[in-house]
Amino acid sequence: MGLFDNKVAIVTGAGRGIGREEALLLAREGAAVVVNDLGGARSGEGSDAGPAQEVVDEIATAGGKAAANTDDISTWAGGEAVVNQAIETFGGLDVLVNNAGILRDKMSFNMTEDEWDSVIKVHLKGHFAPSRFAAAYWRQKSKDTGESVNAKIVNTSSESGLYANAGQANYAAAKAGIASMTIVLARELGRFGVRVNAIAPVALTRLTEDLMGGVVTDDAAKASLDPVNVAAAVGWLSSDLSDGVSGQVVKIGGGVCQIVQGWHPISEITSDGPFTVEAIAAGKDALFATTDPGVPPFLLNLDS
Ligand SMILES: NC(=O)c1ccc[n+]([C@@H]2O[C@H](COP(=O)([O-])OP(=O)(O)OC[C@H]3O[C@@H](n4cnc5c(N)ncnc54)[C@H](O)[C@@H]3O)[C@@H](O)[C@H]2O)c1
Repeated sequence: MGLFDNKVAIVTGAGRGIGREEALLLAREGAAVVVNDLGGARSGEGSDAGPAQEVVDEIATAGGKAAANTDDISTWAGGEAVVNQAIETFGGLDVLVNNAGILRDKMSFNMTEDEWDSVIKVHLKGHFAPSRFAAAYWRQKSKDTGESVNAKIVNTSSESGLYANAGQANYAAAKAGIASMTIVLARELGRFGVRVNAIAPVALTRLTEDLMGGVVTDDAAKASLDPVNVAAAVGWLSSDLSDGVSGQVVKIGGGVCQIVQGWHPISEITSDGPFTVEAIAAGKDALFATTDPGVPPFLLNLDS
């Protein structure tokens, strides 16, 4: 018995890195998997049907079920096509893992319009487009059957989006948006029986090899950064073993698994009448006097 017997899953960007391990785990646990990958470069240019097909072949060799899809999920048409392929090929959809991504890091003052647009498009729109068509399918299915669809979406955020890496204004903005969108989708789709969560992974892949590759040398650290660890979190969030969990961000990697929660008030001042500049300035010390242990000091006031 596998965790995903008789289930159908889509993993976007599953030709390499983290997505590949997610697809392999889902297939090993019994899911029929649509392996989506455009096969482009790390920065998004070009396309190649090879990576998606190689993962499909690997799954088939191991006795699993999979189909390749090379649509660009950052378009409405691509999002619709990958969802339709799952339904037409395998008879339905139970799990959508939004994972595809690219990087084009630059400091804000050097960033080009194309570097901004492409990263926002692949991550933010690339998460929304498949989710939008999966959501429409699940809503209709729930109406038709009168039952909960018991489906899951797992999105891929990033510590960069949660904690704001310098040099990644485009990527961090998209990843923060994905964390927020995860909660919106969880609120919207819960009534149909769809749970929606996100991960913030840390893993050694082509996306991070220039950042971590040279630094991480010992075997234990490398093992803790193997994408299989990330796949385990996605397997948990995609399965009924995470019943009751929705609208959450799970950081996973480097030997650590955390629930990370976001924006919340840490202090306040109040006013009976209209606020003035001076009144707010007078309240500055009170506003920053929080002892909330959940607030990392480096986020508290960046101008100190
Ligand atoms: N590796 C990390 O430590 C790390 C950290 C935080 C977040 N992430 C996120 O995890 C996800 C996977 O990253 P990875 O490290 O495995 O990178 P990767 O480059 O190894 O894999 C990403 C895959 O997405 C595919 N892809 C890109 N654009 C696509 C599109 N428009 N349509 C379909 N496929 C597309 C690529 O071809 C590639 O195979 C990304 O969203 C990334 O931002 C990774």
